[in-house]
Amino acid sequence: MNHLLSIKDLSQDQLKDLLALAKKIKTNPAEYRNALDGKSVVMLFEKPSLRTRVSFDIGINKLGGHCLYLDQQNGALGKREPVSDFAANISCWADAIVARTFLHSTIEGLAEHGSVPVINALSDLYHPCQGLADFLTLSEKFDDVSKVKLAYVGDGNNVTHSLMYGAAILGATMTVICPPGQFPDGQVVVEAQALAAQHGGKLILTSEIEDIAQQDAIYTDTWISMGDDTNLDDIEAKFKPYQVNAEMMAKAGANFFMHCLPAYRGVEVTADVVDGEGSLILQQAENRMHAQNAVLVTLLAK
Ligand code: CP
Ligand code: NVA
Repeated sequence: MNHLLSIKDLSQDQLKDLLALAKKIKTNPAEYRNALDGKSVVMLFEKPSLRTRVSFDIGINKLGGHCLYLDQQNGALGKREPVSDFAANISCWADAIVARTFLHSTIEGLAEHGSVPVINALSDLYHPCQGLADFLTLSEKFDDVSKVKLAYVGDGNNVTHSLMYGAAILGATMTVICPPGQFPDGQVVVEAQALAAQHGGKLILTSEIEDIAQQDAIYTDTWISMGDDTNLDDIEAKFKPYQVNAEMMAKAGANFFMHCLPAYRGVEVTADVVDGEGSLILQQAENRMHAQNAVLVTLLAK
């Protein structure tokens, strides 16, 4: 493992090892206090962030490393100087790059032209750190994550893609329910279906809410992702039947609700569900740090 650009690049063993290491670091942080001693990580963010920025910064500190945050005060990466120069220069000083970008190709460019590991902190295509934290969360609730039935309801987006790859590689069952025209990327679907077939998982895609039966957890995300200038009024009618509410949770028999956050109460999910007893949102948020620390230790503490 040289980078973390997408969960699809991980073997089942690598994915399971990361989850196991994240649990180890979570339960015994003192053992990893100096894991990143003398290492510096540059974080490049083209988009806003609460969870990702704070959990990387504090997580790196807990591992004994140092991090430097660069927002895009000069516009998108590649505007003031090429992404290739950016990557080559940062590689002269830093030991890793964490990047949140509009285009996934920018993250690929950093990995191609730099000489240090690159971690994808969200792109238009994937959000692997989120997916890792989410499967860590599920593995804390279920002894055998391959038996988990996870439904994703709403907009097929970067978070959906990473969840699909993760579920497929772990051999779990995932049902993706989206309004017509809002399905995940076609190539990602094909790749995730192939991974599911290889690992004994199941990936179902449908627009029928009725197909939600028998889920362990229902996951949703914002209907409008960062960088998408669609007006909510223009899509609300199309998405409204896909709002996660108490009725949907009951129909699915789902005990748990998941969301990567930020959540828009009364839009993609009702407040009673997102703030309710079965909501895992804060466990997911906390696990961002432990999952990312497992990635950092795997990539850097060699
Ligand atoms: N879930 C997540 O990535 O949150 P931020 O956008 O606040 O980092
Ligand atoms: N799909 C969302 C995730 C935010 C963490 C977005 O890209 O904005």
